[in-house]
Amino acid sequence: MKLLVTGGAGYVGSFCVRGLCDRGHEVVVLDNLSAGHKEAVDPRAAFVMADLADARALETLIRDAGFDGALHFAAYLNVGESVAEPLKYYRNNVAHTVTLLELMQKYQILRLVFSSTCACYGIPAAVPITESMPQAPINPYGNTKLAMEWAMRDSARAWKLGVTCLRYFNACGAAADGSHGEDHDPEIHLIPVVLQVALEQRENVQIFGVDYPTRDGSCIRDYIHVDDLVDAHVRAIETQEPGEFRAYNVGTGVGTSVKQVVEAAREVTGHPIPAKPTARRPGDPPELYADPGKLMAELEWQPRHTDIREIIETAWAWHRSHPHGYRHA
Ligand SMILES: NC(=O)c1ccc[n+]([C@@H]2O[C@H](COP(=O)([O-])OP(=O)(O)OC[C@H]3O[C@@H](n4cnc5c(N)ncnc54)[C@H](O)[C@@H]3O)[C@@H](O)[C@H]2O)c1
Repeated sequence: MKLLVTGGAGYVGSFCVRGLCDRGHEVVVLDNLSAGHKEAVDPRAAFVMADLADARALETLIRDAGFDGALHFAAYLNVGESVAEPLKYYRNNVAHTVTLLELMQKYQILRLVFSSTCACYGIPAAVPITESMPQAPINPYGNTKLAMEWAMRDSARAWKLGVTCLRYFNACGAAADGSHGEDHDPEIHLIPVVLQVALEQRENVQIFGVDYPTRDGSCIRDYIHVDDLVDAHVRAIETQEPGEFRAYNVGTGVGTSVKQVVEAAREVTGHPIPAKPTARRPGDPPELYADPGKLMAELEWQPRHTDIREIIETAWAWHRSHPHGYRHA
């Protein structure tokens, strides 16, 4: 298939581009490099440096390329920033997605895979989280992702868009050989932050809340390796039928606490990684982990990385060999 990948220079997108190229798809990446890295883009893919805000550039690309489908990763994803600057998030995440959908309708591109998030569930009434649980985000980032899902679901009904929303839990990990990995600035994700302490780029890791009603008092999350996310995207786009709306949780189904992540990182790196207990962050649910049963049953997907220590080993291979990410590769 000929596929448009928005945000394909970012963390998850660039891994998916490699996976799609491996499967023989013809990939065109569109990214404005606001957070992505040109070096992360597989050389087998074509790269177009453009902003989704530039509707004319987007239309020219879509009109001329003849895409069979699209994977839409481009978005802002910093929860704290979304609270402070919500309209920046509504503009980039919602408004630009509407532009993309309008052009997909105009040029009849009827297959889409969308990067959604477990943040769209807000504080769930129970865990593990299934797709049928209420979607009630508690921050503007989650609201924008839910609004994007709605625009897609309504498009599926109205003009036969086929769409799969993949609701990722905590994306993490890197290529096992350390050649490719996560490079966000500022870094907000737990595993890279912990490994930055091991690299002596930070003094300690803050543990936000040690008095939660969890097994060790720290928050529990579901850490899903980026290779397993790639596998979900490949299966989703290759099985997508026009007019069909699907939503899947993409997680391992295993909950891991913040303290367990820090302890596993100590074992992997051999560094003491000092941890600093800190007050809870508002709106952080105690426990979030997926029931990935629907994805496993319907797309025959199976997570291959379920051991947090082994996941951290892949991340460490990347961070140790690229302590400043792609910028100084
Ligand atoms: N990382 C996670 O744990 C996680 C969890 C759940 C969902 N997601 C979703 O997955 C997607 C990818 O996340 P990521 O961690 O790879 O983020 P990322 O920031 O590494 O990648 C996003 C990419 O989109 C590009 N981009 C942003 N706005 C753009 C625009 N207007 N025009 C063109 N390009 C633009 C950025 O330059 C970047 O390369 C996001 O949609 C995010 O909401 C991520």
